[in-house]
Amino acid sequence: MLDVEDLRIELMTERGVVRAVDGVSFSLGAGETVTIIGESGSGKSTTAMGVLRLLPEDEAVVSGRITIDGHDVAADPRAAARLRGGTVALIPQDPMTALSPVHSVGGQLREAVRLRDPALSRRAAEDRAAELLTQVGIPEPRRLVRLHPHQLSGGMLQRVLIAMALAGRLKLLVADEPTSALDVTVQAAILDLLLTLQEETGMGILMVTHDLGVARLVSDRVHVMKDGRFVESGEVEQIVDAPAEDYTRSLLSAVPKLGDFR
Ligand SMILES: Nc1ncnc2c1ncn2[C@@H]1O[C@H](COP(=O)(O)OP(=O)(O)O)[C@@H](O)[C@H]1O
Ligand SMILES: [Mg+2]
Repeated sequence: MLDVEDLRIELMTERGVVRAVDGVSFSLGAGETVTIIGESGSGKSTTAMGVLRLLPEDEAVVSGRITIDGHDVAADPRAAARLRGGTVALIPQDPMTALSPVHSVGGQLREAVRLRDPALSRRAAEDRAAELLTQVGIPEPRRLVRLHPHQLSGGMLQRVLIAMALAGRLKLLVADEPTSALDVTVQAAILDLLLTLQEETGMGILMVTHDLGVARLVSDRVHVMKDGRFVESGEVEQIVDAPAEDYTRSLLSAVPKLGDFR
């Protein structure tokens, strides 16, 4: 589903060129969850955004090989744009910035549905939007669609973003710290929802987190990132139970809360 080889990303910043990603390789198959974990500033988001070619071309130089569902998106950023909204989707770190504040939740969801299926009538798109909201555990979808993003709690917003991602026929979901802004019980519910949807759809998930508790809960494999590189990679049990690096141990001791749910 996703194959990344020797990915390097240089960011053009005011302070000069930052090599944010410095030669990482990984792959992810259908139905798998692969997690990139690392401290803040280690290059996780740049990797996630770079893989989906969401970094502005004049601000980021991307090199290496990126293949999504058989499409070479490193050579052709437009190939990635065609996949987004259909085969692949991103759940960004901050749900508030991902939605427009001036349009209703329902309107935005309806447009996401129509992007995938332009022939749908407005009415049919609204029905599909309500279905998606039910699927992500929103009890009264017909009421919620009339609201604007600022009227929703963080957990509800995150569910709406997941519903929006599901509007396409997703094969790959990239989730950048999807639960960091939420309290622990809501975090667990959202992660649980993602795993259930994964079981139903067989989508692959690329998860980004700084929290090893989250990684432990959802991952098949884990890559530990520091200064733009992977310092350690392996099965989740191996990384959690027998980390080889001090750096990984320090992440482990930081936030073990969610691990209790497993
Ligand atoms: N827009 C930006 N301008 C300048 N530097 C940036 C920008 N985005 C990221 N960086 C730098 O790139 C590196 C990796 O950042 P990022 O990928 O956001 O890390 P993470 O998601 O792991 O916290 C950091 O050194 C960060 O300071
Ligand atoms: Mg980040």
